[in-house]
Amino acid sequence: MSASKETEGAVAVITIRNPPVNALSQQAVESILKVLKEVQFDPAVKAIVICGENGKFSAGADIRTFENIGQKSDSLSHFLEDVNSMAEKSEKPVIAAIEGVALGGGLELALGCHYRVAHVKARLGLTEVLLGIFPGAGGTQRLPRLIGLLPALEMITTGKIVFAPVALKLGLIDSVTEDNTIKAAIHFAQNVIGKPLESRRLCTKPIQCPPNMETIFNDSKIKLKKLFHGAISHQLCVEAIRAAVQLPFAEGILKERELLFSIFNSEQARDQAKARQYAFFAERRVTKWTTPSGANWKSASPHPIGVAAVIGLGTMGRGIVVCLAKAQIQVIAVEQDGKQLEMGRKAVTKILERETLTMQQRGLALMSDSFGSITFTLDFNSLKNADLVIEAVYENMALKKEIFKQLSSICMPEAFLCTNTSGLNIDEIASVTGRPHLVIGTHFFSPAHIMKLLEVVRGYHSSPTTISTVINLSKVLGKIGVVVGNCPSFVGNRMMGPYLHQAIFLLEDGCYPEEVDKVLEEFGLAMGPFRMSDLVGLDVGWRSRMESGLTGPKLLPGALVRQREGKRYSPLPDILCEKGRFGQKTGRGWYQYETVGGRNAVPDPWVQNFLHDYRKAHTIKQKPTSQNEILEWCLYPLINEGFNVLEEEIASGPEDIDVIYNNGYGWPRHMGGPMFYASMVGLPKVLTKLEVFYENNPDIPSLKPSGLLKKLVKQGSPPLKEWRSQLGYQNSKL
Ligand code: 3HC
Ligand code: NAI
Repeated sequence: MSASKETEGAVAVITIRNPPVNALSQQAVESILKVLKEVQFDPAVKAIVICGENGKFSAGADIRTFENIGQKSDSLSHFLEDVNSMAEKSEKPVIAAIEGVALGGGLELALGCHYRVAHVKARLGLTEVLLGIFPGAGGTQRLPRLIGLLPALEMITTGKIVFAPVALKLGLIDSVTEDNTIKAAIHFAQNVIGKPLESRRLCTKPIQCPPNMETIFNDSKIKLKKLFHGAISHQLCVEAIRAAVQLPFAEGILKERELLFSIFNSEQARDQAKARQYAFFAERRVTKWTTPSGANWKSASPHPIGVAAVIGLGTMGRGIVVCLAKAQIQVIAVEQDGKQLEMGRKAVTKILERETLTMQQRGLALMSDSFGSITFTLDFNSLKNADLVIEAVYENMALKKEIFKQLSSICMPEAFLCTNTSGLNIDEIASVTGRPHLVIGTHFFSPAHIMKLLEVVRGYHSSPTTISTVINLSKVLGKIGVVVGNCPSFVGNRMMGPYLHQAIFLLEDGCYPEEVDKVLEEFGLAMGPFRMSDLVGLDVGWRSRMESGLTGPKLLPGALVRQREGKRYSPLPDILCEKGRFGQKTGRGWYQYETVGGRNAVPDPWVQNFLHDYRKAHTIKQKPTSQNEILEWCLYPLINEGFNVLEEEIASGPEDIDVIYNNGYGWPRHMGGPMFYASMVGLPKVLTKLEVFYENNPDIPSLKPSGLLKKLVKQGSPPLKEWRSQLGYQNSKL
């Protein structure tokens, strides 16, 4: 960890060194300060360039030192602001040469410089808010002065990252280069030696403000509340920017400090910051996968994928085609008949057009002016050219087996065969191929071109190379791949099961869909269980329940209406489907919608009357249920299933589950993920509550506390990072 200085003519080049991302630790900042002071007094130096080693300017403050949040991160910010201020006050021009990333404190340092030169592929952003804090080294005061109130408000409150070409348009940087950035910055420096610097010092620059500022701030807070569901740091960003507008620079800096300190002084804000930082490291942790046989992310080498194929261009297939093409992979898209093929082609083209527009707006067109080519075909023989095939046909085992049999004979012997099944047995699918070691589950989430999660479902025979290839592909696609074991519904959907059942039982017992959704949405989930079910389509679960004989023609005669094999069962969603209420796709479900396919869920008096009549018919007494009871009743069984998943070693650690929930199920990041949340609530509390629930509802087996949860409580509830060590690999499906 150091900063060193070399000189090129009259230009001193200060290089930040702290691999892998030149994070600004206390030591690194001290070192920059020392060298910066040194060059100030060196008469031979007429200009200063600051850059980072190994093609990265800086990823900001060293998050690893944030564990004792409230002390280190706070003082680090102050210290960094001293450096920024020294650069800004320098009588010699200081130029930031930005390669790779300038994020958080890294960008704040660049804002302290008089000029910024960036490589065309560099990414810049004040991302602190995504870690539950906010720019505390002058960023909230300098950025609005540089790029104006509205763009600064957007960047700071959302943590938005922009690419250099967009940064140039915003006025965030002064020059973009496609060549060697340090050389370009030195050249730039030579040209500005001796020029007046006063107008380059952001601390002296007035902010251009629109007249309706108060409305802007208030609207922004309302929007952020909706978008980030109660996350405190976003709101505080607005206050800090308000200070930038209302106060002179020096006072604004003090206000920024005071607001940052308020995060460290509030237990809730501190917990949210801890949760966000945990989520950040959890995402990095899950990339370091390992298997019981000892294979792991380091020992297995991925195969590059040049040509990929997708079979089935329905809801999922079309999104998968788009993300492959966006990653510049050549795609073969296969359908079963001409009509479906045409529909698939149109849908893919439409999404790609939208994506192109978005990319242009984000300034990405310069870097990826083409997508991978897509061949739409009905000819299965064209699959012989694919390095990897992703099957996304209907969720039907017989059909999937038929397809994998064909793939096994058509595809190159070394081609990887993947299935997008949301819960079927990977081993059974693999069994019909002559290459089970190359078969694996790639469970994308809908919409596949947007959702970041990829559950990588390892079958019994899936080889380390296969896992490694798919994990690598997930990175290429800009997704987070999490390796999970093979069990019905895998990890995410399996944990959803008890949660959704509990929510439906609440309707039997007296709640209405909108009440339950409100509680879970206020908690922070992107969508409550009923709005989510309406979006997914109630018919999906209904078909699978009919298939398994829980309802419909296969249901055994004499079955009780509200019981299956002695367990509590609610026929409510079946009845809705029988009435053609499938959710958004039919314009009616748990809610009503303005049109078929509409998205605006409105409480439906029909549902209220229906529930009322249902309760009366089954003589169910309406129980009063508090918001807290609704929350615990729905979330604790989901968490309990998470512990079962860990105990069975379907997931290799709590971080894996949390990454799945944060990226695939709209779990609020400031709550860390369900397992992190359980650790914050306290395992004894979760266990006690589950015990009471189970005692009162012995006909709901998912309420039975997991053995692992009980074990952890018995051991004094060790911190989450120690749970992994409680899991052996004896029965592992991983
Ligand atoms: N501090 C410490 N370690 C960091 C770090 C940081 N700011 N940023 C990344 N790392 C570590 C990662 O944990 C990872 O470590 P590992 O190899 O042990 O797992 C390693 O660097 C490489 O990171 P990635 O795997 O994420 O590599 P990528 O190339 O995919 O992404 C990145 C690089 C875009 C920089 C991404 O890591 C990132 O977004 N980092 C966080 C940036 C950020 O939010 N900075 C703000 C910090 S707070 C701040 O600056 C406060 C200020 O106001 C004072
Ligand atoms: P879908 O019904 O929207 O699309 C399936 C497509 O497969 C149709 O276009 C159909 O014509 C095509 N198809 C069927 N038989 C074929 C054959 N023999 N050859 C070529 N194409 C054929 O289904 P959806 O929703 O896209 O689901 C696909 C898979 O993804 C299923 O296994 C599902 O469980 C899974 N999945 C679905 C999610 C969702 O939200 N819809 C989420 C995650 C996984």
